[in-house]
Amino acid sequence: MRELGEVEKQTYTAGGMCVDGKIDVLRGWIAASDNIVFFGGAGVSTESGIPDFRSVDGLYNQQWDYPPETILSRTFFDRNPEEYYRFHHAKLVVDGVKPNRAHLRLAGLEREGKLKAVITQNIDGLHQAAGSKNVLELHGSILRAYCTKCRAPYPAERMNHCEGVPHCDVCGGIVRPDIVLYEEPLDQRVMERALDYIQNAEVLIIGGTSLGVYPAAGLIHYYRGSKLALVNLSETPYDRYADLVIHEKIGEVFSQV
Ligand code: APR
Repeated sequence: MRELGEVEKQTYTAGGMCVDGKIDVLRGWIAASDNIVFFGGAGVSTESGIPDFRSVDGLYNQQWDYPPETILSRTFFDRNPEEYYRFHHAKLVVDGVKPNRAHLRLAGLEREGKLKAVITQNIDGLHQAAGSKNVLELHGSILRAYCTKCRAPYPAERMNHCEGVPHCDVCGGIVRPDIVLYEEPLDQRVMERALDYIQNAEVLIIGGTSLGVYPAAGLIHYYRGSKLALVNLSETPYDRYADLVIHEKIGEVFSQV
């Protein structure tokens, strides 16, 4: 397991190398590997028109009656399903969004047998829409729903375009999205699979995430290789442990590798 702080600074992350040079390094790593794993967050989907959470124009910086992190919690959902669904319909359902260059390139790398898995914190289903097959959704998906009482499954349509709070046809229970709300545990099986991919990856590319939410962000500790690339517009708490840091739009970078 990569003990943070043990990683000696590689020449790549030393100051001075320009973005193009860093993209050349990343291109070389990708060309030479058939064991690449990608771990991403909301920043992968911003170029598809979906706001992230913590950037200046992100969801968590917009004005709501309650902090969005409160609205997206299990307690709030149980106590205020009406207000939850007002936020859900206004902010989580983004119709007509399409995969962008990053999603498409990742799907291509999987088809070429180079990328083993996409591990995402996103709930928008855009990696699958781009053609990726092996996608581990740590925080679930807004494209799936189920009844909170009898767990009957429902298509996303039933929840994403309804008036008010959707209810189950079978038992009348409230229908909810199949996403991990704050206070809820992640699916252990998904986490274990993600861990296994990261532990055994030759190249780990992390992109479009502030790496500030656990346990997802903690996965980085399990990477044991020496080709950890971080592609993120802003700095993250893990920049200094990466072997390659590119502060650039991920769609831009992936269109060149
Ligand atoms: N290219 C590269 N990086 C980008 C881009 C882009 N086009 N757009 C935004 N970013 C970066 C931002 O600079 C930011 O650091 O992506 C990061 C997104 O961070 P967050 O908004 O915190 O999103 P994320 O890391 O996915 O949040 C993790 O928090 O609230 C929970 O469940 C929610 O899954 C989410 C989790």
